[in-house]
Order: sequence, then structure tokens, then C-alpha cells
Amino acid sequence: APAEIVVVGSCMTDLVSYAPRLPRVGETVHGHRFAVGFGGKGANQCVQAARLGASTAMVAKVGKDTFGDNYIQNFKDNGVNIDHVGQVSEAATGVAPITVDDEGRNAIVIVPGANLFLGPEDVALARAAISGARVVLAQLEVRPETTARALRLARRHGVRTILNPAPAVPDLDPELYELSDIFCPNETEAELLTGVVVSGVEEAGRAATLLLQRGCGAVVITLGRHGAVVASQSDPAPRHVPSPSVTAVDTTGAGDSFVGSLAFFQARLPGLPLAEAARRACQIAAESVRSAGTQSSYPGRDGLPAALFQEE
Ligand code: RIB
Ligand code: NA
Repeated sequence: APAEIVVVGSCMTDLVSYAPRLPRVGETVHGHRFAVGFGGKGANQCVQAARLGASTAMVAKVGKDTFGDNYIQNFKDNGVNIDHVGQVSEAATGVAPITVDDEGRNAIVIVPGANLFLGPEDVALARAAISGARVVLAQLEVRPETTARALRLARRHGVRTILNPAPAVPDLDPELYELSDIFCPNETEAELLTGVVVSGVEEAGRAATLLLQRGCGAVVITLGRHGAVVASQSDPAPRHVPSPSVTAVDTTGAGDSFVGSLAFFQARLPGLPLAEAARRACQIAAESVRSAGTQSSYPGRDGLPAALFQEE
């Protein structure tokens, strides 16, 4: 059977240092812990959706190296279909050196490596998977033309599209808005795209209205511990969705947990109002913030309240 959710996106090996605070320019600080984890926005979102119980497939490139081999095993361990995950010898598996401070905040450098070898031709090869999916999900850690091709192909087959425009870029290809049924940036990305300083719920609402005008079906702006703001063409008045408050251990990848969960709800409970889907996704992402790492902190269906998985 075809996967319900196809993610066209990145895989990174996260190299995470935990330190009291982030170093300043030219400064060395002592860290107290180091961990290697599975990351990359595309794979994170895919794995979160898989842990919630969706059937998923990944379209991605890793290197022909140990990190790449381990990554493929990680997909298998999470039940993610890897028919369209390739290994290239031209570049190393993507890596993300990450520093996390004692408040759970982070600074990240990404070196995409093999991810940049994922091209539009790879999307074309995954046509059957994409056209048979319920939801296609993409981000901006692979080449922009690859992302555009994936969303175009999905759209042509009537498959729901979600774009998480991350990491932030100032001049996004305008076509990408029109190709997105749900456009889901965080506050920084929304700010860079609209020029609205997203310092609170009200400003996020203004940014959402501007983004809607660019042609997406719906906009969901995530606001970290303040939850999210949702607006859609059919229900354009911005709505605030709160997040449960938790003690943050590591916020890295919480946004990806949210987006992967949103994709899950679009695939499995498509009748759920978007604000309700976002509210549930906030609950799942908040859970991820309570423990260390990205994928290592993503909850599975068993660890979550059953009500999250029921129709309203
Ligand atoms: O969004 C978090 C992710 O961003 C990390 O896993 C890191 O790999 C970077 O891609
Ligand atoms: Na976490």
C-alpha cells in the first residue's frame, strides 16, 4: 500500500553539545554533555508522523558513509519506507553541530552535504509514492527546485501539501505559497518573510494574514511555548492556539515534532478543524521539549492521551 505521508526533505546527523550557555564570538565555553542523534527537518517530521502511527515514506539523500548507513537503519527502525532514500558518494551525510544551553535554547549550524544532491529528478522517480499519498510534506533544507517539484507534483494529483519554510530565507519563490495547502513557518521565518516583527500573538495574526494573501490555503505560525496562530482562506480571522506549559530541557526539533504531527492529523483525521489539529500538534511538540535531543525526544502514540487520536 502507498504511504499516507511522503516527506521530501533532509537528513542530518545532529552533533549536540549541552553547555550552560551559548558561546559568544571568539569565546570557548565548557560543555557538560555530548550526544549524536538523528535530525534534519525532513526526517524529523517524517519520524514524528511515523511514531504517531502513520505510514510514511522519505525521499532523501544521505552519504555513502557511516552516518548515512546509520540513518537508513534509523528509518527502518521507525518503520519509514526507504525506497527513495539514496546514498551518494559525492558528499558526506548532512551534519548539524548544535549547542543547547541550560534553558533548552539552541544555536545550529547545518552542513547539508548529501542533501544538496537530492534533485527534481529524484522527485520524479518517486512519482508513484507522491501521487498515492494523502499528504506531501516539504521544507527548505534541500534544493528549492526539489521542494517546488515535490509540491507541484502533489498538487497535480490532488494530494494535500504542507510546506515548512525552514530554515528561514528572505526571498521565497512566490510559487511556493500557491503550492501550499498549509504553510507553516515559525515566528522567525514568518518575520523574515513578511517584515512583521512577530513578538506576540497579535503580530503573528498580522503576519498570517499577509502570508494568506500570497496564495496559500492556510497558514499556521508556530510560536514556541506560546502555541500557534492559525488562519485559512475559508476562515481568515487569525485564531490563537495555546500550548501546554512544560519545563524545557531541549527545544531542538520541537517545531518539527509539531509539523510532523500536523501532517499526521491531515492524513488521518482530515475532518478535524485546522485549529484543533494545531492544538493537538502543540500538545505533542510540548511533550518533545521535556527531553533531550530531536527524534530521541519524540513521543509515540502509546505515550500520548488517546483523546488526541479521536474525531472531535
Ligand atoms: O529543526 C531541528 C533540526 O534542524 C535539527 O535536527 C538539525 O538537524 C537541523 O536540521
Ligand atoms: Na527535545
